[in-house]
Amino acid sequence: MERVLSGIQPTGEVHLGNYIGALRHWASDQDSYDCFFAIVDLHAITLPQDPEELRSATLDLAAILLAAGIDPERSTVFVQSHVAEHAELAWILQCFTSYGELQRMIQFKDKASKRHGEIVSAGLFTYPVLQAADILIYRADRVPVGEDQRQHLELTRDIAGRFNQRYGETFVLPQAAIPRMGAKILDLQMPDAKMSKSADSPLGTLKVTDPPEEIRRKVKVAVTDSGREVVASPDKPAITNLLTIYAVATGSSVPDVEASLAGKGYAELKAGLAEALVEFLRPLQDRRRELLADPGELARILRAGAEKAREVARKTLSDVYERVGFLPRSK
Ligand code: TYM
Repeated sequence: MERVLSGIQPTGEVHLGNYIGALRHWASDQDSYDCFFAIVDLHAITLPQDPEELRSATLDLAAILLAAGIDPERSTVFVQSHVAEHAELAWILQCFTSYGELQRMIQFKDKASKRHGEIVSAGLFTYPVLQAADILIYRADRVPVGEDQRQHLELTRDIAGRFNQRYGETFVLPQAAIPRMGAKILDLQMPDAKMSKSADSPLGTLKVTDPPEEIRRKVKVAVTDSGREVVASPDKPAITNLLTIYAVATGSSVPDVEASLAGKGYAELKAGLAEALVEFLRPLQDRRRELLADPGELARILRAGAEKAREVARKTLSDVYERVGFLPRSK
């Protein structure tokens, strides 16, 4: 069975972009692949985090992943810092990554530009190498992610290829699995930007945990395009985004949603979309609440996940150590 790995940061709250672009595909991948899903707390601290908030966001994210349908009996769900091998492999891979490659990373440039006089950490710069380690240490074949991760996946393949060329086949070159629909959900207030956790746009970011009245409010005030026709087109990014979300929430397609709204206007689109989203998110929200009521059980699931992950990670790391010429550790 081919292997899947993906990760999500426990920063801010999970939004509709994360869910539509990534999490729902993680859940469906479980039917066909051996899946590993990491809550990447080491990545989270590349920007300042409050320790208590980080701890509670990590547990909450575990609840959201399970509520989104990830089954810990079938998939390995774990916290990145519980498997120390990720950080160890990241160091090795840093020695096979050039400064120039990291300087070209769009996400680094974007995040660094928002630091406004605060320090830009070396961790933020080398972040994509840790991500490569997350993937390569499981020898994953497939990485389900949104569009914004495409460049990091290309870098991962380059690093793996470079290592393999020097030391022989060690890593699998992973494929990015980017969905055809919903790979880049846009901010509801700024439809020229992706919906983002770090957005300074609270009204434009629809969280999967938003209560129904909040969902209705955010959809109601969502920015629209000029004109009145409810159609998806390149000159209507805001309406196209709303139609995409509508199609996902109702399990249909953009043309079907367009057809169902033929002759109607933006107000009807928004009213229908708000109700569709309330229903779409309700099961996830109910299940999350139940899971959070038993944090001991969540901790147990994460512990079991880390043990399973560590078994695979240890094996890859020891192959790598041997290949680069490190003296074996005494038992
Ligand atoms: P993160 O935590 O920012 O996002 C988690 C996943 O959500 C996707 N995503 C989106 N999809 C559609 N529309 C959007 N507006 C949107 N915003 C986010 C992301 O593409 C991602 O799939 N670097 C990664 C975490 C990571 C990782 C990994 C991913 C660390 N190690 C190894 C894959 C494999 C990140 O910051 O994702």
